[in-house]
Amino acid sequence: MNLDFAQIVPYIPFILEGIWATLKFVSVSIVFGFILGILLALCKITKKPLLKWVADAYTSIFRGTPLILQLMIIYFAVPQLTEYDISAFLSAVLAFGLNSAAYVSEIIRGGILAVDKGQTEAAEALGVPYKPMMQNIILPQAFKNILPALMNEFITLTKESALVSTIGYLDIMRRAQIAGAGLFRNFEALLFAGLIYWVIVYVLTQIGKVIERRLRQSD
Ligand code: ARG
Repeated sequence: MNLDFAQIVPYIPFILEGIWATLKFVSVSIVFGFILGILLALCKITKKPLLKWVADAYTSIFRGTPLILQLMIIYFAVPQLTEYDISAFLSAVLAFGLNSAAYVSEIIRGGILAVDKGQTEAAEALGVPYKPMMQNIILPQAFKNILPALMNEFITLTKESALVSTIGYLDIMRRAQIAGAGLFRNFEALLFAGLIYWVIVYVLTQIGKVIERRLRQSD
C-alpha cells in the first residue's frame, strides 16, 4: 500500500481554491439555465406551433448530444468562425446553462401539466390574464412539486462541472489533476477532490430539504 496523505498538504490550498472556481460558474449556469428553462417550458405548452417546434428542437439537440461536445464546440470550435477567443469561464457558463435549460424545461413542463386543470379554468373564469395567472397561480404550485427534480438537476450540474477541466478551467478537478501530476501521486489528490464534491453535494441536498420543508409548511 502506497498512500501518503501528508504529501498533498502543500497542495491543499491550491485545490481548495477550485471550490470557488467551480461554484462560481456552476451557480451562474444554474440561474441562466433556470430562466431559459422556464421560457422554453412556456413555449412548449403554448398553442403556437412554431414556438413549440423551436423549444422541442432545442431540447432535442441539447439533450441528445454530450455535454462535453457542446462545451468543446463553444470553447474550441466557435472561435474558428468568429475569430474571437472566448474565455473558459464564459464557455463553461454557456455550455452548462444552455444544456441545463433543456433539462429544466422538461422538468417545469411536467410540473405545469401536473397542476390541476381546474386552476387554469378558475383563473380564466375570473378573467385573470395569462401572465399573472402563470406567475401567481400556476408556476408557484408547479415549483413546489418539481423542487426535488430541480435539486437533482443542480446536483447533476455540480458534478458534471468537472468536465471543464478538459478546457483548462482551473476547477477542483483540474487542480487535483495538477497536484497529482506534480506529486506523481494521483490517488490522494483525486480522493481529496472527491471528498470536496461530496461535501458540496451534501450541502446542496440539505439546502434542498430545508426549502422543501418551508414550502410544505405553507400548505
Ligand atoms: N454526461 C451527460 C451528458 O454528457 C450529462 C448531461 C448534463 N445533464 C444535465 N442534467 N444537465 O450528456
